[in-house]
Amino acid sequence: MSDTITLPMQVDRLPGAPTHRPIGPCTLVILGASGDLTRRKLIPALLHLLGDGLLPDDFMVLGVGRKQLDDAGFREEQRVATGADPKLWPRLAPQLFYLTLELDVPDSFALIAERLEALEAERGAERGRLFYLALPPSVYPETIEGLARSGALPRRTQSDPRWARIIIEKPFGSSLATAMELNRVARAAVAEHQIFRIDHYLGKETVQNLLVFRFANAIFEPVWNRHHIHHVQITASEAIGVEHRARYYEEAGVVRDMFQNHLLSLLSLTAMEPPARFQSEAVRDEKAKVLNATRVDGAVRGQYGPGVVAGEQVPGYREEEEVANGSPTPTYAAMRCLIDNWRWQDVPFFLRSGKRLPQRLTEIAVQFHSPPHLMFPLEKGERIAANVLVFRVQPDEGLSLCFELKVPGSGMRISSARMEFSYQEAFGSGEHDAYETLLLDCMAGESMLFLRNDSTEAAWRIVDPVIEQWEREPPPGFPNYAAGSWGPAEADGLITAAGASWRNS
Ligand code: NDP
Ligand code: BG6
Repeated sequence: MSDTITLPMQVDRLPGAPTHRPIGPCTLVILGASGDLTRRKLIPALLHLLGDGLLPDDFMVLGVGRKQLDDAGFREEQRVATGADPKLWPRLAPQLFYLTLELDVPDSFALIAERLEALEAERGAERGRLFYLALPPSVYPETIEGLARSGALPRRTQSDPRWARIIIEKPFGSSLATAMELNRVARAAVAEHQIFRIDHYLGKETVQNLLVFRFANAIFEPVWNRHHIHHVQITASEAIGVEHRARYYEEAGVVRDMFQNHLLSLLSLTAMEPPARFQSEAVRDEKAKVLNATRVDGAVRGQYGPGVVAGEQVPGYREEEEVANGSPTPTYAAMRCLIDNWRWQDVPFFLRSGKRLPQRLTEIAVQFHSPPHLMFPLEKGERIAANVLVFRVQPDEGLSLCFELKVPGSGMRISSARMEFSYQEAFGSGEHDAYETLLLDCMAGESMLFLRNDSTEAAWRIVDPVIEQWEREPPPGFPNYAAGSWGPAEADGLITAAGASWRNS
């Protein structure tokens, strides 16, 4: 609201040093090291961790990719691609090694095991191994089986100092059936505590803060239910289009790409019951329970046409490189979800995500009920805004709470005020990349921010019926929203039926 008064919130206690468990000697094996994820996320995250003094002293990376490179070539390629800080780079570069391999060739996994043993023998110390699947999802099953068969990824107990873990990137399958099969393959190879299914949204600062906000403050729990909350809106909007990932996106679409993982993770943290302990399994039990009670009760799909984003004319989805002419792939979806339990019965959770929307914004907005009776005299047509608590995940991570107050002066005028808390202002740090947190957690064996098999399957159970119906029925006049708009008009109907509206800023 333009006449909203903003009241900054203060932090009066600064945090101490990061509280990560010390990590012993460790080797990170990146499978798919010549790819986009490695240069855009993984190597930059390692550089930041190194700069912050959080990497183990004895740490190395073995990159595996099809591209013909030697160690020096791989180091140079990563240095250029990441625009590495010239002060930090000389500390990381000598720890990077590379192995050229076709993973679909039978003996390749034995070669990984051999190279690892040779590199580790030079260092002497007992060490952990972390395998990162930065590969096309189609090769995950054979890769996991190959790593296990060759002995490179052995089954280990939780307390073994020679720990062996595997990070599996999203998408984790493409349906409930394929996710169950991938879970079966992974659990046949290693124990569940060795498997880390990544959802990078769980590593974002505000997402982790949801747990602290909900369970370290007693004032919110009594109102965190159907008696006080009117609805919840979870938005993950992106201004970017499909970029260079059309081949993947054409098969995935927005529901597999954003809903099955990121949006349902946000929903589960917002709606779950308080765990009894701040312990990985206790938190993951509650997340799985709430997902098992969630269902979709109405959905709208969209695909962007040409339009203007940030003042720039951009093509429609069907005009993007490697996208089929009449592609039916949705780039936008809005869903009304219901959670069938005592706390949330009949409270709609509206989820939406899309590409080529006006801005990059991820937030969870919890809207409370309006007062049941209003004693104040209001002008005709004047309304009082409901209280809204917003967790801003990105950009500009923070929290805000909107409430009503009296405008000073004679007479009774009411205005909205927004209490604002900004991480940047309070703690002075910029956006902290989720991959840093997640890589470090995995090296420390901390699995709370990773997905357990039951949550992954529960999330597919929620979205599968929508995907199946949309793949059966032709799309409704795609493209149906212009790039730079807030999505198709039908999405408004989904939320206005509940007496609410989208928070389009
Ligand atoms: P890329 O296509 O850029 O890279 C894939 C990598 O896998 C390349 O190193 C490629 O080698 C290698 N590769 C492919 N097939 C084989 C094979 N048969 N044998 C050996 N190596 C192979 O993909 P991304 O890096 O973008 O993505 C990797 C994974 O991460 C995907 O599952 C993706 O969904 C996920 N992800 C990616 C994100 C991103 O921002 N990029 C974000 C979130 C998840 P070569 O280059 O020689 O072909
Ligand atoms: C990825 C999706 O998981 O998340 C992408 O595959 C999307 O399509 C990205 O752009 C968004 O992540 P973030 O951290 O930029 O919100």
